[in-house]
Amino acid sequence: MRVTVFGIGYVGLVQAAVLAEVGHDVVCVDVDEKKVENLKKGIIPIYEPGLTPLVEAHFKAGRLNFTTDAALGVEHGEVQFIAVGTPPDEDGSADLKYVLAVASTIAKHMESPKVIIDKSTVPVGTADKVKQKIADILAERGAAIEFDVVSNPEFLKEGAAVNDCMRPDRIIIGTYDERPQDLMRELYAPFNRNHDKVIFMDVRSAELTKYAANCMLATKISFMNEMANLAEILGADIEAVRRGIGSDPRIGYHFIYPGCGYGGSCFPKDVQALIRTSEQHDYQPAILQAVEAVNDRQKTKLPTLVDRHFNGQLAGKTFALWGLSFKPNTDDMREAPSRVLLEALWEKGAKVQAFDPEAMEETQRIYGVRDDLSLVGTKEAALKGADALIICTEWQQFKAPDFDLIKQQLGEAVIFDGRNLFEPSRMTRKGFTYYAIGRGA
Ligand code: UGA
Repeated sequence: MRVTVFGIGYVGLVQAAVLAEVGHDVVCVDVDEKKVENLKKGIIPIYEPGLTPLVEAHFKAGRLNFTTDAALGVEHGEVQFIAVGTPPDEDGSADLKYVLAVASTIAKHMESPKVIIDKSTVPVGTADKVKQKIADILAERGAAIEFDVVSNPEFLKEGAAVNDCMRPDRIIIGTYDERPQDLMRELYAPFNRNHDKVIFMDVRSAELTKYAANCMLATKISFMNEMANLAEILGADIEAVRRGIGSDPRIGYHFIYPGCGYGGSCFPKDVQALIRTSEQHDYQPAILQAVEAVNDRQKTKLPTLVDRHFNGQLAGKTFALWGLSFKPNTDDMREAPSRVLLEALWEKGAKVQAFDPEAMEETQRIYGVRDDLSLVGTKEAALKGADALIICTEWQQFKAPDFDLIKQQLGEAVIFDGRNLFEPSRMTRKGFTYYAIGRGA
């Protein structure tokens, strides 16, 4: 099938590559000329395991193309994906200007019937706006061309995006009526391996499904962070509690790891956007507000522990920091807990020597060159001459470090672990002062 994807961001590029992989003929359109040129040379704008070889192979095979020519893109695809960003507005609601701009572009250039698919995470009611926009422009043009608008949210996780997209748990498709359903079935037929993954519903429900999924997962995390804080106060161990409740299949083991707060481009933005949507409809979403507040507080947990341990005397101290990205296997720093930590430490006059396997370039881009930040090439180099070690991201390579070396290098054998990587009793036996999340007072 001929497919066009507008927006070569995270979601758009992964989706396009995977659709090419299963045999569709895909054209990606973006306004960013540099990005398009780079992609043609095999330079991928994001770090995502498995994506580069996929893009290269299908570009070479001619199944995946990149262009800035919107008219060509509109002409190409029977289906037209809108996969552009929906950045938060000043008040936290999703800004639809890019989504609606693509809708206008499609309407201006289309000469044959099209199915327009909202892939971006958009507030409930956006498909209506897209539909209206296209209808208005076609009316202005005096063009009587049939079109359908479909809501088809994406559920991929950064760091596992290719796999998530190749093997989706479900494919949510919201339609106004039955007309586009056959085409959508055909588009996604290669992904229905053992059972039918497609779930058809109305567009508003599809739009809300996306927010409900992310907000439920964020709720699980904030809930566990709250339990972890309680465990600390009550002298219990959240790890035991986690295993204890996860064994109940109604609760499950996924997404109940406490930590230094959730980050990324999705949970914080989507929780906030659904809060704004609720408020716009005069509804106070008490659970979502609490989820957000608990997460904001949790991000201050590490800086508070550090500050308390050193009696507020952080000026002139140097901290080794392992992990900058908001989670492993990505270079993404958006809403990363490490940023709250860095900024709090700097505010108090401390210096940071940080190492991250992928996110150092991005950190440099965000903070520029500054005296109180050294980005070093290995996790061991970060320890040199530091007063303490802080861990913000659970990269695989941080999980079994050389503890003797850590002790030798640090001014004081103290570790602040925002990801519960080690056993507190073992750490005590090794002579460390070990702070973790929810693991006893
Ligand atoms: C999330 C969802 O998991 C995807 O299903 C969704 O498609 C995506 O948002 C999106 O809307 O595009 P992502 O933001 O890539 O994916 O990352 P996650 O793996 O979900 O992690 C989010 C944050 O939660 C991370 O900061 C992670 O450290 C934290 N987390 C996760 C915890 O603190 N505890 C857990 O048990 C799990």
